[in-house]
Amino acid sequence: MRMKTMVSWFYLMFLPLLVLATVQEGKVSEKALQSLSKEARESLLEAKIGPLSSVPVPPNNPQTKEKVELGRLLYFDKRLSADKTISCATCHDPKFNWAEAEATSTGIRNQKGDRNSPTILNSAFYHAFFWDGRAGSLEEQALGPVQNPIEMGNDLKTMVATIDGIAGYKPLFSAAFGDGKVNPERVAQAIASFERTVVTGPSPLDEFLMGKTTALTPQQKRGLELFLTKGNCVSCHHGPFLTSQDYMPTNLQGDEGRAKVTKNLSDKGLFRIPTLRNVGLTGPYFHNGAVTSLDEAVFLRANNMRLQEYKGKGTPDPSSLVLNETEVKDVAAFLKALNGKMPAIFEPKQFPQ
Ligand code: HEC
Ligand code: HEC
Repeated sequence: MRMKTMVSWFYLMFLPLLVLATVQEGKVSEKALQSLSKEARESLLEAKIGPLSSVPVPPNNPQTKEKVELGRLLYFDKRLSADKTISCATCHDPKFNWAEAEATSTGIRNQKGDRNSPTILNSAFYHAFFWDGRAGSLEEQALGPVQNPIEMGNDLKTMVATIDGIAGYKPLFSAAFGDGKVNPERVAQAIASFERTVVTGPSPLDEFLMGKTTALTPQQKRGLELFLTKGNCVSCHHGPFLTSQDYMPTNLQGDEGRAKVTKNLSDKGLFRIPTLRNVGLTGPYFHNGAVTSLDEAVFLRANNMRLQEYKGKGTPDPSSLVLNETEVKDVAAFLKALNGKMPAIFEPKQFPQ
């Protein structure tokens, strides 16, 4: 009897691991592959599109429940900003799928930035952060906006003093780090740990890849075919995260882009290729939020067209297009099959006092 219970426990414990292991290898079900054309099938396998693996966690900041909870409170706490009006969630708001509805962000004292605030959903999967890749980790990223004069406009000393002065935070820092000391590194580590939980679950595409071929509508299926073949989107948007994470030219009148970081003239106007997971939920699009409709974003990318060209010319000659308007609609419909299950994370009802 005891043995039997142990055996069933063994299965209960390891079955999810087994499932995860197959998922992580990016294995695509034979049934899903057979439902695609030969060309699309080969492209899908080469592009290694598959379900997301588990979130990578750096060894020097292990995930703990206590740190994540502290990070959640700090993420939503407006007292981190200079005038206590802005939190991380102001610009990466769960109501707008952890992004924002505006083209570019507004920080303290109503100051406008010139870049679009990306969603932090799944941002833990990037190797480099920001549209130009100027931060190397979520920990490194987190203190940027606090000190950015047009975002939260604070300095780290004042931020630490403010949090240190809130008695209610002491036990939370103790629980997360062993003692109540507040410093910038701990604030960054807690926020980063929290961000690593802001991850979406399986999308209809993932279900399709696991063998549920009805998870995609016929239009989305056509869009997937185009994405993999004629549209050649996979040359830049591949892998489980649907981006090579390289830097490529934009279709907009961009700022310096990647050259801001590398100071190389050849990197001028290059931007990080963003993930397409949840892209149906996170418009406006591109680094400066210049495009609000997903169809338009796909049209520009598919036909490698600059926004100015496109707006100037009126209806383009169909024979000059890689994807025509109907095909663009199919691809945009497919991109909506990349909307994953939202994490059940909510704004704290009250903050430490
Ligand atoms: C005033 C608006 C604003 C506030 C407040 C803000 N952000 Fe951002 N965030 C942005 C913008 C805009 C970008 C993109 C900037 C760029 O690429 O140059 C960004 C980028 C990011 C990224 C990188 C995402 C990616 O895809 O590379 C992360 C992560 C992030 N912010 C987290 C935070 C955290 C954590 C806080 C609070 C400590 C915060 N943000 C506060 C506007 C804001
Ligand atoms: C040469 C590489 C490349 C190819 C090919 C490519 N993209 Fe992209 N894509 C990018 C880059 C770079 C950006 C960001 C540009 C910017 O922000 O200015 C981007 C942005 C996007 C966005 C906006 C995402 C967001 O969060 O703002 C969408 C949607 C998109 N691409 C879809 C597609 C589709 C669909 C295809 C195929 C028809 C495609 N892309 C082909 C490089 C590429």
